[in-house]
Amino acid sequence: MYYESQNRVVKHLVNRLRDVNTDSFNFRMALEELTRLMVAEAFAQLPTKPTTIDTWQGPLDVERIDESALVFIPILRAGEPMLAGILKALPNARSGFIAMKRDEATAKAVFYYENIPDLQGKTAILLDPMVATGGSLIDSITFIKSKQPQAIYSINIIGAHTGVELVNQTHPDIHLHIAQIDPKLNAQQFIIPGLGDAGDRAFFTP
Ligand code: PRP
Repeated sequence: MYYESQNRVVKHLVNRLRDVNTDSFNFRMALEELTRLMVAEAFAQLPTKPTTIDTWQGPLDVERIDESALVFIPILRAGEPMLAGILKALPNARSGFIAMKRDEATAKAVFYYENIPDLQGKTAILLDPMVATGGSLIDSITFIKSKQPQAIYSINIIGAHTGVELVNQTHPDIHLHIAQIDPKLNAQQFIIPGLGDAGDRAFFTP
């Protein structure tokens, strides 16, 4: 299943990403903040764990997120600022990494690196700002499923309608939360209107 955010602050930050006058530093800062907001939305139904904390009034029973059961997995490069953002809110979560590069000639995603901790019984959360054709995310989810996590989330910022639908048809059992769904792809498989190339915008390349 997938959900497009209706949060006004989320949409405001998406517009900051679309603006070509947003420099790389502010682009990464907007990605960080968007990721915290999107994870907060996505985790609305996340099971919690009872715990007792010492407060100034003595012991207090609360429900908390079990950070150690979370594994955030950015798809490099553009997912990296998203990881930096969420680890400021949930610093005791684990991290894994997948690197995929789109072959510009074929528009197909190619795996070139992975380093994933044990996912058995864990909640895996993929982080990638862009869902264009959906190919990178579909292959990443297939790979993550082979590691048998308890649940899989995908946090994305901007996607083309067709790409998001294709991910959902291929992997209907994951929780995909996206800030903005745009109408289409152009002939080069870029999201229209989109925001350009998120990796290049974030890291001031090429
Ligand atoms: C972008 C983006 C996704 C992928 C989406 O990465 O961050 O990973 O393309 O395209 P798809 O849905 O058609 O597969 P890119 O290949 O530009 O690499 P980068 O993050 O290193 O810039």
